[in-house]
Amino acid sequence: MERGLSKWRKELTKEAEGRTLEVGIGTGKNIPYYPDDVEVTGIDFSERMVEIAGKKTNDKNNIRLQVMDAEKMIFENNSFDTVVTSCVFCSVPDPVQGLKEIRRVCKSGGKILMMEHVRSNKKVVGKIMDILNPIPLHLYGANINRQTYENLLKAEFDPNNIQVEYIWSDIVLFMKIINN
Ligand SMILES: C[S@@+](CC[C@H](N)C(=O)[O-])C[C@H]1O[C@@H](n2cnc3c(N)ncnc32)[C@H](O)[C@@H]1O
Repeated sequence: MERGLSKWRKELTKEAEGRTLEVGIGTGKNIPYYPDDVEVTGIDFSERMVEIAGKKTNDKNNIRLQVMDAEKMIFENNSFDTVVTSCVFCSVPDPVQGLKEIRRVCKSGGKILMMEHVRSNKKVVGKIMDILNPIPLHLYGANINRQTYENLLKAEFDPNNIQVEYIWSDIVLFMKIINN
């Protein structure tokens, strides 16, 4: 899966501009792809993840990392030109609160670039994902049935400003959102 995602990691990061926030940076898989002229702040609420990601920033002056909860960010309103997430909103405990925080810290007119796996809208596949969800949730804290598009609407993003591209079936999505 990771091999397939690397093409999309390049797509995701090449659109980043200006002051950029990556939420849930994990082990820093996107770090190698950011253009050098983009100033990136990466956050994760896991100290261990930030430590591992830190090893990928040794030769990069444009990337800084912080331990922080996406649901309660310490940044001022309208701080970032771009916000990036990849495979994060399956595991943020309160996804709507995390998305509201992204809307707050991203500048109005700024862009939010997301690569996320979500619950299928296909009746049978969606149901199977609901039934199987407790397994990945128990094993590695990730939900396979998050409805991230719907959560964006709950977080009051304007549906007219959300562009969705399907990477794999209707399960892995690339979303580009212009902030209200
Ligand atoms: C599946 S990993 C994805 C990591 C990385 N974005 C990638 O594409 O490889 C999800 C990450 O989101 C982080 N995370 C989940 N909820 C978070 C929150 N509320 N605040 C900050 N980080 C969070 C987890 O600690 C984990 O590192």
